[in-house]
Amino acid sequence: MEEFNASISYDKRMWRADIMGSKAYVAAIHKVGLVTEKEKSAIIAGLDQVAEEWEAGKFVLKAGDEDIHTANERRLKEIVGAPAGKLHTGRSRNDQVATDMRLWLRDEVQVLEGHLRSLIAVFVNRAIMEIDVLLPGYTHLQRAQPIRWSHWLLSYAWMLKRDMQRLHELKQRLNILPLGSGALAGNPFNVDRNFLAQELGFDGVSGNSLDAISDRDFVVEILMWASLNATHLSRLAEDLIIYSTKEFAFISLSDAYSTGSSLMPQKKNADSLELIRGKSGRIFGRCAGFMMSLKGLPSTYNKDLQEDKEAMFDACDSLGRLLQVTTGTLSTLTVHAEVCKQALSPDMLATDLAYYLVRKGIPFREAHGLSGQCVAFAEEKKCALNELTVQDLQTISGSFSDDVMKVWDYEYSVEQYQSAGGTSRASVQKQIEQLNAWLNTL
Ligand code: ARG
Repeated sequence: MEEFNASISYDKRMWRADIMGSKAYVAAIHKVGLVTEKEKSAIIAGLDQVAEEWEAGKFVLKAGDEDIHTANERRLKEIVGAPAGKLHTGRSRNDQVATDMRLWLRDEVQVLEGHLRSLIAVFVNRAIMEIDVLLPGYTHLQRAQPIRWSHWLLSYAWMLKRDMQRLHELKQRLNILPLGSGALAGNPFNVDRNFLAQELGFDGVSGNSLDAISDRDFVVEILMWASLNATHLSRLAEDLIIYSTKEFAFISLSDAYSTGSSLMPQKKNADSLELIRGKSGRIFGRCAGFMMSLKGLPSTYNKDLQEDKEAMFDACDSLGRLLQVTTGTLSTLTVHAEVCKQALSPDMLATDLAYYLVRKGIPFREAHGLSGQCVAFAEEKKCALNELTVQDLQTISGSFSDDVMKVWDYEYSVEQYQSAGGTSRASVQKQIEQLNAWLNTL
């Protein structure tokens, strides 16, 4: 039971947050006269020593150290003696753990933000360098229309930008202090919670003690956030896995981010990308699992809540690695511009042929039908769409004339999309400008 009950093996990584919280709390109970100046100083010096032991890897766990809170207090007592017994006055592990988790996550969010920013910058920088590369764009994984490679790259930068914004929003709700809520009813010694919030860098204090000690919304939010962010990375990975096959060969991964086969000498496997895709499932699993732990809980603290930690740590650790490996994989892959270009085919310009007719005054629905007839005609003639002669085309519509030949140019095709958010050079450059301006505000 002791082993089953204990969380020390994984919550000890919150030692720094736990010490910080205790230092602020002893200052708060000193302010209301619960400890003398001398006792306060002794406790603070003792807590500093406990921190040094953790820092140096010298903290020795003992039997009975159920979690980081009991371990730190046990050690404090060994160091300072009697005054240590006053530290927990009016405090409970319930408000303590909720506070420690928020402190830990606040730092972790900074780290994740840094990784995310680096990744977005790689997308934007590649988009600048490789704006000339054209490749097929797909819907339903069927060849659809020519697009710029940079436009594809930036599609992910925009998703990740929204993720960054969501992370900023979540931070505001995360940075609220539960300490001073006691076990559930509140604090009976009138501690100054705003003082505590200030000491610990929180933006405000929680409004209801019952809610505060059992609220794990902030954990759910980071799990949901990580699941969505990982989903974006997973979709990117899937695109790149397809593009790296010999059948597509649009890109090659660097050796550092791919592996060989133990049996087949010719193989180069996209292990980095497959793990990104695979681990996104694991992250969402953490989210779904923790939601299930929460949903049937009666009011306030129940030990089920201890499940919050492994979910939060594992999702954050996994996502941190995912983001870094994605950055490495993306920044070192090679795009094969010539292969991408060769993969374009005239049938992908059937839409442009319809737009040509639209520009001659034909309603789109009709133009769409006429272009379809041209596709059928080429199939019948067993030639490519762009091999139909002007005479051939004119049997379908009198609106075709010699200038139709300009349609059979992929560069011309992408350059039509000048409106905001399109795939033309100017629109892509505009996106780069917008994303760079935003990156500079971070
Ligand atoms: N290790 C516990 C947790 O993570 C700390 C809170 C314990 N509180 C209690 N009432 N047993 O949830």
